[in-house]
Amino acid sequence: MRYPGISVIAAIDRHSAIGRNNQIPWRLSADMKYFKNATMGKTIVMGRNTFASLGYRQLPGRHTVVVSSDVKLGEMYGVDVYESLENALDANASKNCETMIIGGGMLYRAALEYAEKLYITYVDTVVADADCFFPSFDESFVLVSEEKHHSDEKNEFDYSFRIYERKSNQMQ
Ligand SMILES: NC(=O)c1ccc[n+]([C@@H]2O[C@H](COP(=O)([O-])OP(=O)(O)OC[C@H]3O[C@@H](n4cnc5c(N)ncnc54)[C@H](OP(=O)(O)O)[C@@H]3O)[C@@H](O)[C@H]2O)c1
Repeated sequence: MRYPGISVIAAIDRHSAIGRNNQIPWRLSADMKYFKNATMGKTIVMGRNTFASLGYRQLPGRHTVVVSSDVKLGEMYGVDVYESLENALDANASKNCETMIIGGGMLYRAALEYAEKLYITYVDTVVADADCFFPSFDESFVLVSEEKHHSDEKNEFDYSFRIYERKSNQMQ
């Protein structure tokens, strides 16, 4: 791989929707905890729209990297900003640490070719009026684990935590 240790983390619906009106279109408390555990202590890389959707906040305990042509964001919000995903990965990807690509749709599309592992929360619903989607990945990745859960008062839909690995990694 061109960059070591790249993982993608996303929650997707049955049709691969990930967003609506620059927000995540469901309420799943367990997925927020899962995301926190999976990213804690690591470098997280996001597109400018996703950074905006988080209120231009750095997430505590994680090194926040934003991909945007607006380099002023760095000074304004105290994050590292790069004009391309490749520049961000050149500066931050490391053999010894997993780099987590956290969205959104545009960044996922660019990042998929570099990813070795995908953490996909499958949300068992179809979001009406979704306007942002995860790219298709079935051809290059294989499911290596799945943990299924039912909806409850804190999680409005059934969901599964799925982990995929790049097929070439599996063959070795
Ligand atoms: N379900 C999930 O797991 C999940 C996770 C994260 C986000 N989301 C959702 O995803 C949606 C946002 O996604 P989005 O596709 O609209 O935007 P995005 O990928 O978050 O950000 C797009 C912006 O980031 C920069 N960018 C992204 N990829 C780039 C690349 N390869 N090279 C250079 N610049 C790049 C550009 O910024 P400039 O225009 O400033 O140059 C671009 O306009 C929201 O609805 C959000 O809630 C969902």
